[in-house]
Amino acid sequence: MTLEKELAKALNEQIAHEWEAAYTYLGLSVALKEIGFDGFAHWMRKQHEEELTHAMKLIDYIQERQGAVKFQKIDCLNFSLKCPCEAFQLAYEHEIKNTKYIHAAYALAVKKNDYPTQIFLEWYVNEQVEEESNCQHYLQQIKRAVSQKCLCTMMSLDHEAGKR
Ligand SMILES: [Fe+2]
Ligand SMILES: [Fe+2]
Repeated sequence: MTLEKELAKALNEQIAHEWEAAYTYLGLSVALKEIGFDGFAHWMRKQHEEELTHAMKLIDYIQERQGAVKFQKIDCLNFSLKCPCEAFQLAYEHEIKNTKYIHAAYALAVKKNDYPTQIFLEWYVNEQVEEESNCQHYLQQIKRAVSQKCLCTMMSLDHEAGKR
C-alpha cells in the first residue's frame, strides 16, 4: 500500500523537524563548549547524532512505502549562552515542540487508517517521552545548582553528562 499524499507530506515535514532538532543540538553543543562546559557539549553532540538517526529512519520508511522523499530548507542556528541552563531550557522547549509534531503526524495516520505508519510512529511517540525527560532532568539539576550558587554541583553534572 503506497503512502497517502497528505501523510507523505507530514512525514517529510517531520524529516525537517528532526534535522532542525539535530542542528539545534549541534549549535547548543558548540555554544556550551565556548563557555567551558565540555561535558554538556558532549551530551548535546550525542543528542545531535541521535536526531540524525531519527531523520534517517523517516527517510527509509517513506522509501519503503514508495513515497517521495523531499528535503526542506532549515534555518541555520547559532547560540550564545551565559549559562548551561539556557541550553537545556531551549532543548527542552524544542523537544516539546517536536512532540506536538509527532502527535499530529500520528493523529493523521489514524485518520487515514494507515496502520503501518501508526506502528512506525509509535517508536517516535515513546522516544519523545524519554527525550523530554532527559532534558528536564538536566534542566532541573542545573537550575538547582544555579540557585544554590553551587559551582561544585554544576561541575559534577557537567562531568556526568560527559560520560554519555
Ligand atoms: Fe527526534
Ligand atoms: Fe529529540
